[in-house]
Amino acid sequence: MAKGGTRSVFRCTDCGAEQPKWGGRCEACGAWNTLVEEAVGRNVGKMERGKALLSNVPPVRLSDVAGSKVERWRTGLREFDFVLGGGIVPGSVVLVGGEPGIGKSTLLLQCAARLEQTGIATLYVSGEESPDQVRLRADRLTVDAGAVHVLGETRVEAMLHHARALGSRVVFVDSIQTTYTEELEGAPGNVGQVRESAARLMRFAKEAGPAVLLVGHVTKGGGIAGPKTLEHIVDTVLYFEGESTLDHRILRAVKNRFGSVDEIGVFAMTSAGLEPVADPAAAFLAGRATGVSGSAVTALMEGTRPVLVEIQALASRAGFGTPQRVATGLDHRRLAVLLAVLERRGGLPFAELDVFVNVTGGVRLLEPSSDLAVTAALVSSVRDRPLPADALFLGEVGLGGEVRPVAGVERRLGEATRQGFRRVFLSARSRVSAPGLDVVGVDGIDELARRVAA
Ligand code: TYD
Ligand code: MG
Repeated sequence: MAKGGTRSVFRCTDCGAEQPKWGGRCEACGAWNTLVEEAVGRNVGKMERGKALLSNVPPVRLSDVAGSKVERWRTGLREFDFVLGGGIVPGSVVLVGGEPGIGKSTLLLQCAARLEQTGIATLYVSGEESPDQVRLRADRLTVDAGAVHVLGETRVEAMLHHARALGSRVVFVDSIQTTYTEELEGAPGNVGQVRESAARLMRFAKEAGPAVLLVGHVTKGGGIAGPKTLEHIVDTVLYFEGESTLDHRILRAVKNRFGSVDEIGVFAMTSAGLEPVADPAAAFLAGRATGVSGSAVTALMEGTRPVLVEIQALASRAGFGTPQRVATGLDHRRLAVLLAVLERRGGLPFAELDVFVNVTGGVRLLEPSSDLAVTAALVSSVRDRPLPADALFLGEVGLGGEVRPVAGVERRLGEATRQGFRRVFLSARSRVSAPGLDVVGVDGIDELARRVAA
């Protein structure tokens, strides 16, 4: 029960319905175990809370926001500013999600240090580490974080008190899962606590004007632990991803009220913190071995930016039992479809083979435009003949084996040309003019199979 004269209600995390009493089942949608406690303060009625969240920032179309005259604080960390749409917007709340160990604390500490250097007062609240531990991390960085105020705290009331007293303009909260409000019982990290703490920080940002950057841990399942609902209340959601064994980290905007979504920034984790990579479009091709079978390159659109990636395929005779199908960086069902199409329309035998497909650099293929490259890599592997090293593959593959054109082809080809590619295989139906590129149009994957790795 809520304390201090406040009332509490119970909210369903699935449908958002409010109930006065707790129960095992939501009366509105019938879901089980989804009700969480939420405080309703004495002075903060439901209407008022709604108003407070919306007061400064009316909803706008994302397309209208980019490039408008929103004030922004640049951190100077190029890829970070880029993903946000040009810098941190005063009064905005940004959630930075990612798996433990990926580098969220490092990224935000670097941002704080850089903001201090431009004269913007920051407060870095750590509920996970002591100021000593934060100092140890700071000592590794190339940027001097000495001016950053650090606070070891988990109560949201105390955080707000100190942020107000210091006049902080950007407040970092590491992490939202360790933050709690005294108004609610229940351990930090439970959905009610996380939601209510975030709502309080949000109200603070909207009323007082500082920006708030929240760290949120992502569970293996993919969501920000517990409250998917957090994504709806904050202005911007960034995910920090990558294989912790590889150096590259990708910062992706999955929601951005102040810029375009799906924009990515690419960093390298070094022994002295995160470094924006010099050429993000080519970052994932570094270390590519040419002259090896089963490797194909495609150009993805990541937000407004084309990025070249390598797809590796390996087909080998299955030991015994059902052949294995392992896909890393792409949907295994998509791989199954492409294998079936290759078998039926291209006459290539995969039924008895184990098939492994891997997208290098921890990138994930979310667009069908990479189908043709996956297909080419598979053809190359099954025949054990390399594809031309200077060739790019761009096209969606249909169930009939037909190759379809992709969107944004000029941008992708422009980048490929700049990176030294000389040939592109794409749908014969694509209308492109690509100076400097030898354009090879193919109608179907049978034609592709005749023209490459033959
Ligand atoms: P961290 O920022 O603590 O991750 P998170 O907050 O997402 O849990 O960083 C985790 C890893 O980064 C850790 O294993 C050490 C490594 N690291 C570096 O490689 N270089 C550095 O300069 C720093 C500060 C950390
Ligand atoms: Mg951390």
